[in-house]
Amino acid sequence: MSEQSHVKITKEAMSKAYVPYSNYPVGVLIITDSGNQYMGCNVENASYPLGNCAEASAIASMVMGGESKINKIYVMTKNDEGGIPCGGCRQRIREFSDASTEVIMCSPDGIKNRIHLSDLLPQSFGPEHL
Ligand code: THU
Repeated sequence: MSEQSHVKITKEAMSKAYVPYSNYPVGVLIITDSGNQYMGCNVENASYPLGNCAEASAIASMVMGGESKINKIYVMTKNDEGGIPCGGCRQRIREFSDASTEVIMCSPDGIKNRIHLSDLLPQSFGPEHL
């Protein structure tokens, strides 16, 4: 499947976001090492700190699917610069990443930037440190 199709699916994920408080929808699509796809969106709550980031919901879906290796993760917002994972989500992605894992930042009109997770979160803490 082409990256253009992946962007389209990420946009669909963003359209599902439940964001009555921030009005800042985020969509995520994870492509695993085995090529499977898992979507996520942010889900907010009237008790603000209980909201979930889109990355967290996509990762939960991936784990429910029995997988744990992220090859690529698309993150979309309506900004021109594309979606950029927050610090907490960089760590969440890190758990299921390796040196080749790519974060692909998108806006609704396409890919804006791509960067390895290891560059977004250098010298990071991970399972191998325990
Ligand atoms: N958000 C995400 O879903 N992912 C990120 O990496 C950054 C922030 C959400 C949380 C909240 O629903 C909204 O964006 C505004 O912070």
